[in-house]
Amino acid sequence: MIDARTFRDTLGRLPTGVCIITNCNDLGVLNGVTVGSFSSLSLDPPLVLWSLDKKANCHAAFREAKSFAVNVLSEDQSDLSNIFATKEERPWSELRHRPAPETGAPLFENCCAYIECHMETIHEGGDHDLFIGRVVRLQASASGRPLIYFGGAYRRINEERVG
Ligand SMILES: Cc1cc2nc3c(=O)[nH]c(=O)nc-3n(C[C@H](O)[C@H](O)[C@H](O)COP(=O)(O)O)c2cc1C
Repeated sequence: MIDARTFRDTLGRLPTGVCIITNCNDLGVLNGVTVGSFSSLSLDPPLVLWSLDKKANCHAAFREAKSFAVNVLSEDQSDLSNIFATKEERPWSELRHRPAPETGAPLFENCCAYIECHMETIHEGGDHDLFIGRVVRLQASASGRPLIYFGGAYRRINEERVG
């Protein structure tokens, strides 16, 4: 039996980027959640993945979503990350965002990168669901420095090369 503390502490040794996954449904309702589970999956076809707790408020909305956008956060966006990592209503009207060209999902200003996807498949993974998206549009900022989550805290990257 693996206890939850050991699982979290051990997996916490793996640094992750921080993304806010967003969606705009057919009625114009906006959804967004902070995740560290986002990852690339396949180049041909171009697929990405992320996972969401089945108990998340936004879980039903993402299960029904036809598309989503990935906002890859910059090192100065930890406050934005925290807004989408709570159970509170999202203060959309107070945040600066624009609709993504292909999917209409909200994109925030000054992110490191944006990735728009059509929902490809959804798989069960224990207490989470795994969402796989087919990439339809990409935009990277040449100068952007990513926000990192490691050891239970937000951090910035030290770009010193070691190899
Ligand atoms: C850095 C960071 C990474 C996170 N990664 C994930 C993740 O990959 N999957 C997930 O389900 N929740 C993740 N969370 C937690 C959700 O953001 C959090 O549970 C949120 O409150 C869900 O919102 P909702 O229940 O209102 O939809 C992460 C939180 C933080 C701060």
